[in-house]
Amino acid sequence: MKAVVAQGYGPTDVLKVMDVPMPEVRDDEVRITLQFSGVSQADAMMRKGTPKFARLFLGLSKPKNAIPGTSFAGIIEAVGQNVTQFQVGDAVYGETSVSFGAHAQWLCVKADGLIRKLPANLELENVATLCDGPLTAYNFLTELAHLSSEQSIVINGASGSIGSAAVQIAKSFGAHVTAVCSSANVQWVKSLRADVVVDYQTQDFTQLNTSYDVIFDTVGKRNFAQCKSALKSHGQYLSPVLTLPLLFNMLFSHFFSNKKAKFTPTGLSPIPKLHQQLAAIEILMQNQQLKMNIDRRYSLNDIQAAHEYVDSERKKGVVLLTINP
Ligand SMILES: NC(=O)c1ccc[n+]([C@@H]2O[C@H](COP(=O)([O-])OP(=O)(O)OC[C@H]3O[C@@H](n4cnc5c(N)ncnc54)[C@H](OP(=O)(O)O)[C@@H]3O)[C@@H](O)[C@H]2O)c1
Repeated sequence: MKAVVAQGYGPTDVLKVMDVPMPEVRDDEVRITLQFSGVSQADAMMRKGTPKFARLFLGLSKPKNAIPGTSFAGIIEAVGQNVTQFQVGDAVYGETSVSFGAHAQWLCVKADGLIRKLPANLELENVATLCDGPLTAYNFLTELAHLSSEQSIVINGASGSIGSAAVQIAKSFGAHVTAVCSSANVQWVKSLRADVVVDYQTQDFTQLNTSYDVIFDTVGKRNFAQCKSALKSHGQYLSPVLTLPLLFNMLFSHFFSNKKAKFTPTGLSPIPKLHQQLAAIEILMQNQQLKMNIDRRYSLNDIQAAHEYVDSERKKGVVLLTINP
């Protein structure tokens, strides 16, 4: 089969499309003919091998699992003999997390992992990346922020994968949403139902003489110190981008401040919790309260171009690989 192979850590040309053996399905696995996979910031970080301490888990000099890619959607083509919950022909989507392997024509995953049947009235291409932006946004807004309809939230990076999902999910909870993006994306972010849109190229949301219950910096461009004065007295700063200063601020604010800084690695949450969250996200999509924006589509052969676009930090929603069209 054709698969992307990462020949080391580094720029986009470490990724090559090669012929590799098709994976054998084990007793507790299903084999999926992949139709779509996302290319995310997390995929770009894994390609670069950053932050460097992550190489302790990913592989010291090159990735342990040479085939990258985590989010997937496709059709089950074979089931292991112990699998009861899926059948050949089921349309499914999910996430392989640190097992990777989704940038390929076929993929084997454990049937009790993060894999779900395509819900009624939804398309495979729209659920292929649910485990990236929407799941992360939902996890942060519920487990960390406990966001409610009485609260106000700033979402920085509102045009990105996590940010655009966060705006829509926060609105579905009835919160007052201030979305922050560049001039080019103001109109689109308004269409996601944000109450206020701040163009960061002309205004600084921390200097508007307004205070918020939650500041969710989805792209890690503003730190806790910069945001603290714009938080209400028990406000929270959340970011999915882990840095040493954020780690320090989490520890310090936990013990010594009413205002808190928080981070969590969504992909490491227990699988039943993630299934529960995805079930809620599917309902939001079925009710049209959450729409995915597929910014660009690439073929497997164009994997380097897809990564270059993700590296630009300008993507609007998600970037999709179309496989086995
Ligand atoms: N902790 C977790 O569980 C978890 C899970 C998934 C991902 N992540 C991490 O979360 C981060 C964000 O991921 P993502 O997929 O949402 O990113 P993304 O989709 O690549 O973000 C792109 C967006 O960032 C915006 N942006 C760039 N510079 C900005 C700035 N200075 N201020 C405000 N917005 C800016 C751009 O909007 P404009 O063009 O309008 O500037 C663009 O739309 C990544 O670092 C990823 O690794 C963490």
